[in-house]
Amino acid sequence: MAQSSDLAAVVLQALSASTDSCIEDTWEFAISGGHDHAALVGALMSLQADAMTASEVRQASFWELTAEGKEVAAYGSPEYQVWKAVPAGDAGISKADLEAQLGAPLVKIGMGACMKVGWLKKGPQGALVKGSDDVRDTTQDKLRALEAAGGALESLSAEDAKELKRRKMVTQIMRKSFKVRAEFRNVLMQMGFEEMPTNRWVESSFWNFDALFQPQSHPARDAHDTFFVKDPAQAVSVPADYLKVVQEMHENGGSGSIGYRYKWKREEAMKNLLRTHTTAISSQMLYKLANQEGGFQPKRYFSIDRVFRNESMDATHLCEFHQVEGLVADRNLSLGDLIGTIKFFFERIGITQVRFKPAYNPYTEPSMEIFGYHPDLKRWTEIGNSGMFRPEMLRPMGLPEDVRVIAWGLSLERPTMIKYRISNIRELFGHKADLGRTKRAPICRFDI
Ligand code: PHE
Repeated sequence: MAQSSDLAAVVLQALSASTDSCIEDTWEFAISGGHDHAALVGALMSLQADAMTASEVRQASFWELTAEGKEVAAYGSPEYQVWKAVPAGDAGISKADLEAQLGAPLVKIGMGACMKVGWLKKGPQGALVKGSDDVRDTTQDKLRALEAAGGALESLSAEDAKELKRRKMVTQIMRKSFKVRAEFRNVLMQMGFEEMPTNRWVESSFWNFDALFQPQSHPARDAHDTFFVKDPAQAVSVPADYLKVVQEMHENGGSGSIGYRYKWKREEAMKNLLRTHTTAISSQMLYKLANQEGGFQPKRYFSIDRVFRNESMDATHLCEFHQVEGLVADRNLSLGDLIGTIKFFFERIGITQVRFKPAYNPYTEPSMEIFGYHPDLKRWTEIGNSGMFRPEMLRPMGLPEDVRVIAWGLSLERPTMIKYRISNIRELFGHKADLGRTKRAPICRFDI
């Protein structure tokens, strides 16, 4: 039997080969690939633990062959076995000899049935003789056909079902299988995105805001929106030369921009905070990309991690949530590339209808909110935010002039709430969340 890791590879392979990143039914998938279903489900569970896949339970009724049914499928029905054991010709065989050959229980069941349909008859001195030289074991045929059809309910007529059930050769069972879908991480990896190292929650205002050309007076930088860190309150260091160029861009502009024309303060930029978005990581990765040995190389990055906002909490907002962020840095990218990439990405996670609406972000131009159509709710819901990073952000980093960066971000929780019809986010995340529910639930799946 295949190892769990091999089966995990089989699942991922199948997901990436299918146009909608989906395996409709693990049972059928296991049968057609010759895999053991239980082992396949085991591999699936470990993929889910890594947020590579998400699944949905499917339950359906099927026919299953009993041990008796399986015997018959393999060796023939009792009546057929009895008929076969009777030699051709008028001499026949005595019941005692037949029992010695096949065992009394089989003869008991098979003989009566043979007599009823005329396959055997009583000969001289009570011997059993063949009533027909050529018979067809339709019971075996039906069971074999049922096996080949994977036990599909419709593959047995009502009459046959009744008969085979009466003979205890089949039983009806509820079968549990899964519909599997590739999750964000898997989809992004398939699309050639590399995961960014996001294992830090404390950031400087510099990387979270200033590097993104977000002015120091921007309301998001207020303590009402951002959690500032008291101890240590100040970041230790940021690249000194780069800091100067960022300051110049804020104060006086450059690369065709007139800047914000205000007095930029280093102390403000050095304030530590709990990152408000994973774009704080994207800015550092882009800076590295611009300054790496050998110069800029086109790249696709993504991250999935926690962010914090000092928002008043209500049923749909918490102070912390998880963001999925993606970016592509390459020469001469256009808005068409952004729209195409986002459409492709959402399609792969099951959202086939997306729309864009012009929006504003300090660090992107143009900026677009992303809306997805929810077929259940029959309405368009906001699912993310996106844009092309501004030259005022990219040029100070030292990225070549023709390099464009398209990017988007979205919250992981929102679609999950919609999907599981959770009306209060506290049921999903935080100390009030019911762990039992978390353990029972399949990993969240984005399929609005
Ligand atoms: N940082 C934005 C947010 O927190 C998302 C975003 C990322 C928008 C990248 C544009 C580009 O909502």
